[in-house]
Amino acid sequence: MNYQQEIVRALQAACPLEEKELRDMLAVPPDPAMGDYALPCFRLAKTMRKAPPVIAQELCAALEKPACVERVEAVNGYVNFYLDKDGFSRSVLEAAEASPRFGSSEEGRGKTVCIDYSSINVAKPFGIHHLPSTAIGNSLGLIYRYLGYHTVSMNFLGDWGTQFGRMIVAYKKWGNREQVEHEGVKALVALYVRFHEEVDAHPELADEGRAWFKKIEEGDAEARQLFDWFKEITLKEVSRVYDKLGVTFDEYQGESFFANKTDQVIAELEEKHLLSDSDGAKVVFLEEEKMPPCLFVRSDGATLYVTRDIAAAFWRKEHYHFDKCLYVVAYQQDLHFRQWFRVVEKMGYDWAKDLVHVSFGMVSMADGAMSTRKGRVVLMEDVLDNAVEKVDEIIRQKNPNLENREEVARQVGIGAVLFSVLYTNRIKDTVFCMDNVLNFDGETAPYAQYTHARCCSVLRKAANFSFEGESDLSALNNPEAQAVLRAIDAFPAAVREAAARYEPYLVSRQVIEICKAFNKFYYEQRILDCPDAQARARLRLTRAACAVIRQGLALLGIQSPEKM
Ligand code: ARG
Repeated sequence: MNYQQEIVRALQAACPLEEKELRDMLAVPPDPAMGDYALPCFRLAKTMRKAPPVIAQELCAALEKPACVERVEAVNGYVNFYLDKDGFSRSVLEAAEASPRFGSSEEGRGKTVCIDYSSINVAKPFGIHHLPSTAIGNSLGLIYRYLGYHTVSMNFLGDWGTQFGRMIVAYKKWGNREQVEHEGVKALVALYVRFHEEVDAHPELADEGRAWFKKIEEGDAEARQLFDWFKEITLKEVSRVYDKLGVTFDEYQGESFFANKTDQVIAELEEKHLLSDSDGAKVVFLEEEKMPPCLFVRSDGATLYVTRDIAAAFWRKEHYHFDKCLYVVAYQQDLHFRQWFRVVEKMGYDWAKDLVHVSFGMVSMADGAMSTRKGRVVLMEDVLDNAVEKVDEIIRQKNPNLENREEVARQVGIGAVLFSVLYTNRIKDTVFCMDNVLNFDGETAPYAQYTHARCCSVLRKAANFSFEGESDLSALNNPEAQAVLRAIDAFPAAVREAAARYEPYLVSRQVIEICKAFNKFYYEQRILDCPDAQARARLRLTRAACAVIRQGLALLGIQSPEKM
């Protein structure tokens, strides 16, 4: 299916440019009437000392037409290539039919990618602000596996720090076991808030908090038991939400697991003369890198997040021999990652280059329901439940007899929420608006799922139709069918690019492209109501679109019901 390659080769024989240059220049015109591929000749004007239209004319005349091309034309400084439509249709259909895993590959064979994502904090609510990390990390795992990589998904739990000493103080003073068992994280958060309300008037509470944290560190039985219990409560709740989302992790090795591995990091930094004293604290200066110094040991001797991160990276390298370790974490931590990646490099580890911060923007609620400043958090679980409920309502109105209504509502509701943060460039902030994410006519998961169900319904109607036999591919020689084929054809490259750029939205966009093209085709062309050989060609196209939409959504962690 390498039309681009064939065209580049033909061009190369006819002009003095390098293959790579030609490949970069060859474009896909926005309007297919201008060809399936086009070479703009403007950049050649300088070297070839001729006007672009003249260059285009000459190239066009000198070119030996590759087999996949039906016609070549020079128009206003462009050389336009029109593919042989039957050949194109055949090759796309055959490629899509060749494997149920269209676009998958073996490029990652033997390589391991660790993905650190979602990484929630113990005794803190699982809020909607964790959605991008959770959705993007999960999707990247699916995409990398599709490309043959071995992946390890890791939830780097935030389960270490003096706040856990404060939690114990608050619990012992004002808490009660039944309430915490019953209300879960909510009760823990309330205790923590109370601690901060009271600490101003009773500063001794802070000392008590530190003392209890010290006990946790030293392994005191009571302290450890409470600490483990807080964690258990949190994990129980969080697992329920991950189950709803369909997200899983290979390990939950959190900060506490690495806390006793930080001394080695500090010792190694000392040994390599990277640490400097600064007002009683120890830092690594990063002046050359134009970054503020990175703090490693505070004057009170406490260990830090950054040290645990480095200890974790060493451990992961040693255990998994990763080729890449991705950190799917909000852009607020950009500096943190830049700093410690650089520190690892300064320590002499060349694999520092394999550490990647996959940064992303913020989510806010369109109705203003969330404000970090006011400490208002919108819970992930509430958003999910609400989405499922709303979809259920919509189905009850529009398709009251649908079998498995609840299951479909769940797949569509959850899919809609996940998709909302997978449809834009990661770094863009997203404003979450329930009506928009559930809009069946918008660029949303429900729209894609609906299109998939539409394909399924066409295929169900043709259940008795045999795919064996001749296809008349001229039935696909119309702009609508060609657009569907082009969108399907571009899917494998979108998956590859998504992995290379850590951008699942390249997949979600391609899925929407296919859906839009298919719906247009569905409205403009008869699929079943035509001679058999034509119907066969159009059904094959429908079947291919159906499979690719389903697969594309699966790579985003989204399911596709067959009926909606
Ligand atoms: N728990 C942290 C937070 O909520 C995110 C941890 C990200 N992963 C890491 N290896 N630092 O901010």
